[in-house]
Amino acid sequence: MSDKPDSTENQMWGGRFSQGPAAIMEAINSSIDIDKRLWREDITGSRAHATMLAEVSIISGEDRDAILSGLDQVAKELEGGTFKFSQALEDIHMNIEARLKEIVGEPAGRLHTARSRNDQVATDFRLWCRNACDEAAAGLKALMQALAERAEENAATVMPGFTHLQTAQPVTLGHHLLAYVEMFSRDAGRFIDARNRMNECPLGSAALAGTPFPIDRNSTANALGFDNPCANSLDGVSSRDFALELLSAAAIAATHLSRLAEELVLWTSPQFGFASLSDAFSTGSSIMPQKRNPDAAELVRAKTGRITGSLNLLLTVMKALPLAYAKDLQEDKAATFESVDALALAVAAMTGMIGDFTPHPENMKAAAARGFSTATDLADWLVRELGLPFRDAHHVTGRIVAAAEAKSVRLDELSLDEMQAVETRIHSGIFDVLSVDASVASRKAYGGTAPENVKTQAQRWISALKQEN
Ligand code: ARG
Repeated sequence: MSDKPDSTENQMWGGRFSQGPAAIMEAINSSIDIDKRLWREDITGSRAHATMLAEVSIISGEDRDAILSGLDQVAKELEGGTFKFSQALEDIHMNIEARLKEIVGEPAGRLHTARSRNDQVATDFRLWCRNACDEAAAGLKALMQALAERAEENAATVMPGFTHLQTAQPVTLGHHLLAYVEMFSRDAGRFIDARNRMNECPLGSAALAGTPFPIDRNSTANALGFDNPCANSLDGVSSRDFALELLSAAAIAATHLSRLAEELVLWTSPQFGFASLSDAFSTGSSIMPQKRNPDAAELVRAKTGRITGSLNLLLTVMKALPLAYAKDLQEDKAATFESVDALALAVAAMTGMIGDFTPHPENMKAAAARGFSTATDLADWLVRELGLPFRDAHHVTGRIVAAAEAKSVRLDELSLDEMQAVETRIHSGIFDVLSVDASVASRKAYGGTAPENVKTQAQRWISALKQEN
């Protein structure tokens, strides 16, 4: 790279400068390749600002009209892909303003009255993040809908429930899927909360100290759909906790997605054999013809690294940054865009896989019955029917499990005699609770895995989600 300037003086702030920047300066300073994505928000913000400036007679009606129609043309060029971006003009704000000047001439220079790029970028970025929150919440709701539908279908499909990834107690697949609906619903809620908190307008904070011009900040805030203007100009230009909240919500949602993705990877392995993904969501191996790889699930799992990394990136950029604006803040956008894109892709891929996967109920049920998964049911029966203290029941059950293990049989395959050898008062009623179906059916207390509960919960979610749409 040459250290010769590859551009002449900057037309936006060149007055004090006699030379253009070194090439390396331009390379580190320019953000246009990233922030061009804010063009719609930038034009929307400028329209609101120009309209307000004319309302309070800071600019004339003719200048406002020239600016607004010029912005229309700039928007057309950007939409149509004919806009010529310039690295020398650093960012989207100066690119758009320079083009506006070419189109409308002098009035373009009046647009930046009572405004700075500092409040401009803070406003644009809030608008973008606000929309990203809405879209993330909508994507999560579509995923919840898909999960709730599969849960309803599988309200009575028995599978092993795990703790420590060891078979613990039987549950139903529907119950398992609805656990994720609960998680994703809180994730969607976090995006909505973040959106509500970020909905204050920085525009009019100007560079940092506010402006001496008699602007109407309520007018621009209203026009842009904000609840109110930010009350402190220093806060307005320098805060990015709105983006941090978006990134935190994304990181938590991605963490939840990674857990479900991991389960799909496990379930579709031949060792588990609980489910399979169709060709549409599997890839083959170029060397091992027998393989069906759950690449989409693995990539959803891995996107978490990118998304959590973005949160960490922006936290680190913000740490110890003195008020008010510093160019460090320009690094906020790449991280945020990357995280929001990765999350949208991961949520869409997961929604696809949830609709796609075929459960294998026989394998799940067989696995649920292994590992003495109804041992707790046996102990509970001893408490209920024989009045044993739970600790004693636990001990008796342990001995019965040992007897079954020694014979390599399931608990319900032991004879009554064999059980009575451990505890004489056990009677044939015990066989009512030892099957996996009986076990899940018994868990009727609110929040439990009984198929009727699962059906009710799945239907509750399906109709709640339909109503929201
Ligand atoms: N591109 C800049 C950013 O994203 C815009 C604000 C520039 N302000 C300044 N004082 N240099 O932060």
